[in-house]
Amino acid sequence: HDNCFILAIESSCDDTSCAVLKNNQVLSNVIAGQKIHEQYGGVVPELASRAHQSNIIPVVHAALAQANIDKKQLSAIAFTRGPGLMGSLLVGGSFAKSLSLALDIPLIEVHHMQAHILAHFIDHGQEMPEFPFLGLTISGGHTQIVKVNDYHDMEVIGSTMDDAVGEAFDKSGKILGLGYPAGPIIDSLARKGNHDAFKFPIPKAPDLDYSFSGFKTSVLYFVQKQTQKDPDFIQNNLEDICASIQYTIIEILFQKLNKAVKQTGIKSVAIGGGVSANSGVRERLLSKQEKGWKVFIPPFEYTTDNAAMIGISGYYKYLQDDFSSLDIITQARIPM
Ligand code: KG4
Ligand code: ZN
Repeated sequence: HDNCFILAIESSCDDTSCAVLKNNQVLSNVIAGQKIHEQYGGVVPELASRAHQSNIIPVVHAALAQANIDKKQLSAIAFTRGPGLMGSLLVGGSFAKSLSLALDIPLIEVHHMQAHILAHFIDHGQEMPEFPFLGLTISGGHTQIVKVNDYHDMEVIGSTMDDAVGEAFDKSGKILGLGYPAGPIIDSLARKGNHDAFKFPIPKAPDLDYSFSGFKTSVLYFVQKQTQKDPDFIQNNLEDICASIQYTIIEILFQKLNKAVKQTGIKSVAIGGGVSANSGVRERLLSKQEKGWKVFIPPFEYTTDNAAMIGISGYYKYLQDDFSSLDIITQARIPM
């Protein structure tokens, strides 16, 4: 196992991505997003799989070219088996299998949510978490608190019962007439607003689980009520509304995360997923260092969906000769 070159493919949702890794270092990480969904205010699965079909070849070529290696040097192909949108997964999965067959090198299946956590082990000179630690994966598709015992030994100890936290951002944004995805827009508006301006209730959910569907509804009722009194309410208070929404979402996230730290006694926390790009989430996590937590925040390029995280997961499986058979099938849902 001197030098291992892994080509990794991610296509679980609406980003087509290919990365090449040399051991635990990223040589290239090419991501093609899909603008087509913006006009619909959410990902349209049928359109996503079609776009993956047209993106996959150019993305793989670009990743190999940027890494400056020939495909004959590759040691293995890693791909996202799931969870995700079936039509999207199929494109990357079928491509990965064909490539593995054509180059006669091993195929490695990767769990998308494990990969979001293992992104912290991509070597870019930073300190890496030590096992066990807690992973908080927050994106448009998932919200989970995970106890990470080893690279491929993870336990979900809390998760959302309905909407993901990214949806809470995006659906609130839709109510306010903001573009899609609204998360980053709310983030930047919130920075100029007062988070105490408006109060939203914290939804009830058992133990370490989350619930966000009631939150979105409370935002809707609040905005409808205020707009009846003042038609320009949103326009005149947008920054304060965004700050208050973001503050409440962060409260919801951290109430359960605090509880998880207390219950497990594990004070080492790593975040991942698109919502971990949120400046308020990052600030709140960093402030926990005063309470003795060790916190890990990945670089932006490894927080949202990307193939580099699939590559690093594949690398740790490669070291253990943990390969997949060619008749493996992609799956919309897979337990951790
Ligand atoms: O991980 P990701 O790129 O894709 C998946 O959903 O798997 O996450 C996308 C989500 C969207 O809901 C988007 O609004 C949210 O991440 N997001 C943010 C920020 N940047 C992205 N939410 C809040 N603040 C941000 N800065
Ligand atoms: Zn993801």
